Amino acid sequence: MQSILFVCLGNICRSPLAEALFLQHVIEQNLSEKFSADSAGTAAYHLGELADTRTRSTALKLSNLNLTHKARQFESNDFLAFDFIVAMDKINYQNIMKLRPENARAKVLLMRHYDSTIKNEDAIPDPYYGNENDFEKVHHMLNDCTKNFLKELMRNNIRIIS
Ligand code: 4NP
Repeated sequence: MQSILFVCLGNICRSPLAEALFLQHVIEQNLSEKFSADSAGTAAYHLGELADTRTRSTALKLSNLNLTHKARQFESNDFLAFDFIVAMDKINYQNIMKLRPENARAKVLLMRHYDSTIKNEDAIPDPYYGNENDFEKVHHMLNDCTKNFLKELMRNNIRIIS
């Protein structure tokens, strides 16, 4: 079993969606015994809240997904509990690394590096201050990135950036 933690800033827009889309691909491919997933935010702004209503309505509309995750904050112990930590952007990545313990187990990756359609991009853009179109773009991007990431995990072909 490999465990994956998706991380963004607030844990209400990008990372709970990444978690749900990744698990949807896992289930579709009958891989539930091989992979588990969770998500967290580097900030504490929205602890205990469901995903943003715009993220949830887009997830239902585009992928028939009902998001039930409640926001929690990323913590140092997550480095011991997970095999992979997948950051949505470089600021998340830096904030994650600040909490890295000596005996860390998890490898830290950037989600956008698994985009099959574009190279040399680092960020899943934060849609929080955007419009419906921004939420839909992020949804399609995360659907592609999580699918491709699962493919690379199955190929044992993960490139470590740290
Ligand atoms: P997320 O988006 O990191 O994708 O969950 C955000 C959610 C909330 C805020 C910023 C980004 N905020 O400033 O409250």
